[in-house]
Amino acid sequence: MRNFITINDVEYALSRGETAICCGADDVVTAAAKEFAQSKGITIGAGSTPPSPAPAPIAASGATSGSDKFAPARPLPSYPAYHGVMSEAEIMRWREEFPILKNCVHTANCSVSAQSLSVRAAVNRYMDNWLTKGMDWDYWMVEIGNAKAEFAKLIGASPDEIFICGSVSDAVASVVSSLDYSGNRKRIVTTEIEFPTVGHVLLASAKRFGFDLRFIPAEGEEIPLDAYEKNIDDQTLISFVTHVYYRNGFKQDIARIADICHSKGSLVMIDSYQALGTTLVDVKKMHIDILASGCIKYLFGVPGIAFVYVNKDLATMLNPTITGWFGQVNPFSFEVRKLNYAMNTCRFDTGTPAALTSFAAGAGIKLANDIGQQGIAQRMDYLSEIALLKADQLGLKCVSPHDVRKKGGTTAIEIEMDSHHMEAILRDRDIIASARGNVIRIAPHFYTLPHEIEFAFEQVRDIIDHGGH
Ligand SMILES: Cc1ncc(COP(=O)(O)O)c(C=O)c1O
Repeated sequence: MRNFITINDVEYALSRGETAICCGADDVVTAAAKEFAQSKGITIGAGSTPPSPAPAPIAASGATSGSDKFAPARPLPSYPAYHGVMSEAEIMRWREEFPILKNCVHTANCSVSAQSLSVRAAVNRYMDNWLTKGMDWDYWMVEIGNAKAEFAKLIGASPDEIFICGSVSDAVASVVSSLDYSGNRKRIVTTEIEFPTVGHVLLASAKRFGFDLRFIPAEGEEIPLDAYEKNIDDQTLISFVTHVYYRNGFKQDIARIADICHSKGSLVMIDSYQALGTTLVDVKKMHIDILASGCIKYLFGVPGIAFVYVNKDLATMLNPTITGWFGQVNPFSFEVRKLNYAMNTCRFDTGTPAALTSFAAGAGIKLANDIGQQGIAQRMDYLSEIALLKADQLGLKCVSPHDVRKKGGTTAIEIEMDSHHMEAILRDRDIIASARGNVIRIAPHFYTLPHEIEFAFEQVRDIIDHGGH
């Protein structure tokens, strides 16, 4: 595959202490990249030595590593033991990939993750290519295919089981449009803990398609498994279920839920936006029919693109009315009078593919795959334990599950003051957190250091104690 070497690649090499960028004979080096590399003493070329490994980071020791600026005032007396496959030195090395982490504590990953050098480089690669080539659809389509392949790898699917759309809302609308409501099953089941957009699409579609919509009520901040047993029945065509509750991080056992759905003859679609990138997902082993996610949260990507898995055996039985020329067997047959769906999940693709966002999203998901999902999942559980201990030490009203096996990345603190005001004050203190309703969410990613989590919670406590000042 042809690569484009841009200024960003040079910056990336510099940040890693490398003195050479190795590239193939077909690769393109932009003039600006050449000039910048020369000025920094970096060689680029086919004969260059492959990049040397980045220098070892400053020794990391969990609680005390990193900047003093974010040191907790009253550290936890002890941390739980960390047994993750990813060493702390590796985590420190990966932190170099996210420049903003040098200046602030980024704990809004349930909303948007930190910008990485590789996603930035991917965006610039598209821009440089467009600038220099004018039009290069062949290459852009390769990158779109690569993005699908990275998503497929992340969830244990094959690339031809993935379609791309603009958002999870679009994904739900496409799936709703593809179902056949003429049989006995005329019910769609969903839950009160979905991200509201799922409810909105279903409410807007119920009358048009003639299905009955049932919401499973939340019990407190969770939904017990037997509520699925009770509410999904032999009239249910499909159930829309969130993997992790956006408000408090409650993580559902989606494999068990899928089995319950199937035992009643219902299909299941999982919204995994708050989960992917923090927890292991294998759609085949978990018997998931359909799964959707955008990329801006734990997948390091950009808005405007979402990826959807539809099991290949199921896909050909579904006929989306939200469709377009890229959903056809041959988009370039240009037969305006003929509808000829592709014979795989691509039948859900619609119009001109999202090239720019695919470059970025593909790079973000690749990063998640390269870092390793198992290591990230273990790290997230460890950080959750610290967050729960710290919230408890400070007497904060934590509304997240206290069992880390039932918890995603978010630890939510219920507060009486306006949560957006809290978010703004935290930002002034170089902490990025995320407000939702009456909670402030502290959502680390694998790169967050334990003492940064402690610092963030201490600042929340301090702001509450000072009446929001
Ligand atoms: C679980 C979940 N699903 C969906 C969304 C957003 O959906 P969309 O991609 O349609 O904006 C969010 C946004 O925060 C979310 O947390």
